[in-house]
Amino acid sequence: MYSLVVENIKCIIAAGGLGTRLQEFRGNKSTKILLDVNGTPMINRQISQLVNWGMRKFVIITNPEYFNMIQEVTLGEFKDLNIEFTIQEEPKGISHALYQARDYVDENEKIFFVLGDNFFENSPFNNFDFKNFHEGACIFTTEVENPEEFGVAEMDIDGKVLSIEEKPTNPKSNDAVVGLYMFDNSVFNKIDTLEPSARGEYEITDLCNIFVSENKCMNLNINGWWIDAGTPERIIELEDKLS
Ligand code: DAU
Repeated sequence: MYSLVVENIKCIIAAGGLGTRLQEFRGNKSTKILLDVNGTPMINRQISQLVNWGMRKFVIITNPEYFNMIQEVTLGEFKDLNIEFTIQEEPKGISHALYQARDYVDENEKIFFVLGDNFFENSPFNNFDFKNFHEGACIFTTEVENPEEFGVAEMDIDGKVLSIEEKPTNPKSNDAVVGLYMFDNSVFNKIDTLEPSARGEYEITDLCNIFVSENKCMNLNINGWWIDAGTPERIIELEDKLS
């Protein structure tokens, strides 16, 4: 039963962006997602993580420059997986990245959207039954000491999501939104209605807030460590956790 339901999920990985915070780290001249993490390219570590969680069908969003290299690295390692690729011409934000996958999702499929640099100790699906996810969105959160560095969710006393803010100066809670999102198929029409934020990006938080306004955004707390491996320090921390 479990594997049947996972069959109806398309796992979309955001692997575009510029990764400017990791340029020159260990002589890195390419993209963060191809950086070696304990000897394995980050994108391949990500796919292994997702396969362990039960995902089987993938779409990888890359920037034009690294499209061929990412294809080579992933298909060279995962010969039996169903992996498709799409290009985000310019890094206009995470929602904009997701939009590039719109032609790769079937009508009957749900979307599991993953930020390629996010790694976890445990599967977020240990306490999640796919059968209960019919429509809307689901965000995943965890308590952190530095919420201002992430998307931050405010929940009411019953755990209902009230709002999500991108890197707020005065966070309303310590609940960081990690880089995992479940969406139904309405997500692409919703992205169509987004406007760029003050920093010029189509924000993932603005997208989630549309679901919140429709009362269709649930939240799940994750267990165990979480690392957004977007800086040199966090890559080293990740390597430490994995070894
Ligand atoms: O890690 C969780 C956080 O990820 C969330 O709490 C934030 O709400 C969310 O905005 C995001 O923040 P980051 O500052 O970590 O995002 P970053 O720019 O590092 O992008 C995350 C991944 O998405 C990265 O692997 C590259 C990819 N990306 C990013 C952009 C801006 C794209 O594929 N295209 C893009 O245009």
